Amino acid sequence: MSRRPLIAANWKMHKVTAEAKAFVTALLPKIAEVRDRDVLVCPPFPLIASVDDARKGSKLSIGAQNMYFEEKGAFTGEVSATMLKDLHCEFVILGHSERRWVFGEGDELINKKTIAAINAGLIPILCVGEKLDEREKNMTEQVVLNQLDKNLKSVPEHAVASMIIAYEPVWAIGTGRNASTKDAKDAITLIREFIHSRFGATSAEKVRILYGGSVKPENMKQYMDQEGIDGALVGGASLDPESFAKLILY
Ligand code: 13P
Repeated sequence: MSRRPLIAANWKMHKVTAEAKAFVTALLPKIAEVRDRDVLVCPPFPLIASVDDARKGSKLSIGAQNMYFEEKGAFTGEVSATMLKDLHCEFVILGHSERRWVFGEGDELINKKTIAAINAGLIPILCVGEKLDEREKNMTEQVVLNQLDKNLKSVPEHAVASMIIAYEPVWAIGTGRNASTKDAKDAITLIREFIHSRFGATSAEKVRILYGGSVKPENMKQYMDQEGIDGALVGGASLDPESFAKLILY
């Protein structure tokens, strides 16, 4: 079976309202003919409503970059899945390496967020990946499998089939040092094998697995040509509509 490619923008902590609107206005005509792939923008929380407004009538999807697992309550500074749904988000990035390593999010927290997102009807984009020292010590497989094991604990099989996993080696993020197609493919094969063994053949066949880490218009196609790589999660190169359109039209 063929999975629909997904090209996802993670804007991280960039842009203000006028820039977000201008981005969507510039992007939409460039991708108007795109039918066979999904396109997603994950803006910072304050820009979600503006992007939603600017995308009206288009097929552009919206996601958030994080959320908390509780539905409501005294959690100053946090945002719930219900709030994201209310803003028409369909996706939420969870376990991004910047959440793990800048903000100290652990595997158990990421697991709770994943389950809460699914229960609220959001599609999690679960990010996994090893740090440079872990790769140098040949620990990539161990690290990625351990993250998957813990982050997907108690997630129902049917939910895994429709979720997204992004392999984002930490050393490739924002460094310009993108993973070789072989390294990306090997890690993504490993992830699909894990999903197969834990959640069965249907989930493994359906789950979309992306590569992320210094993806640029110049290297996008080499990843998309690999069997099993279903798309890209893009930071820096997703900030400019020209460059993001090139990634989408790879
Ligand atoms: P860059 O594309 O800037 O390397 O960021 C990748 C990333 O972290 C996407 O989530």
